[in-house]
Amino acid sequence: MSSEVERRFSTALEANGASLPRHVAIIMDGNGRWAKKRRLPRVAGHRKGVEAARQVVRAAGDLGLEVLTLYAFSSENWRRPAEEISDLMGLLRRFIIDDIDELAEAGVQLRVIGDYQAFQADVVRLIDDAIARTEGNSKTTLVIALNYGSQNELARGARLLAEQVQRGELSPDAITAEALSQTLYTADLPPVDLLIRTSGERRLSNFLLWQTAYAELLFVDTLWPDFGREELAAALADFGRRERRFGGL
Ligand code: IPE
Ligand code: IPE
Ligand code: MG
Repeated sequence: MSSEVERRFSTALEANGASLPRHVAIIMDGNGRWAKKRRLPRVAGHRKGVEAARQVVRAAGDLGLEVLTLYAFSSENWRRPAEEISDLMGLLRRFIIDDIDELAEAGVQLRVIGDYQAFQADVVRLIDDAIARTEGNSKTTLVIALNYGSQNELARGARLLAEQVQRGELSPDAITAEALSQTLYTADLPPVDLLIRTSGERRLSNFLLWQTAYAELLFVDTLWPDFGREELAAALADFGRRERRFGGL
């Protein structure tokens, strides 16, 4: 890392001061276009994307962010060709195997949101072991969204509440926003303060629709493989300049 990058990283941090977001969520988009621009196969973009994620996780730890959520595989990504899905699963395996020691030692608690049980058994086992191994950590929470879709998450929550009502354990009047929040994968996490999407697309693609109710949204043109420490610091500096009102004055 160049000292210039490091200097700008520190400056952005200092400028930000007290208004650091607690929870940053990122839609890591643009791996395929990054590869295409270089006439490389899409998997090369995904490989570089994993490296970008690694840098951003490290930077989040250095910054003292409480929660970083990364959208790695959506419930709609099954629509991609089998070969690409298999490449993505291979990269996920490698990421967990290669990075779990560093994450564990850095005090990162790994969590997963989404129906990752639908993945191949060996991947599920790797994920479960990694979660168990970092359970006691509390410095930074790294949440990876795998086979995640917000609409499925909300439907699942509604189903859980309906079952409680059916068993006579819950009155329909008790179905409040707070009660529904408690059914979500993110129940014990703070709401998203800052949502970043890379690659110039300006949509949410079924990501954390409930949890971003009052998030600041930041869309950047940088393709995900080119996103790193400096871009994260710039995003936090941008967040620091926003005025949040939460419906008040
Ligand atoms: C994001 O990059 C990674 C995943 C969705 C897994 P894309 O693969 O969506 O890249 P583009 O949008 O085709 O450039
Ligand atoms: C969103 O990106 C999902 C992830 C980054 C994992 P996509 O590339 O799948 O989103 P769309 O299809 O362009 O909306
Ligand atoms: Mg995309």
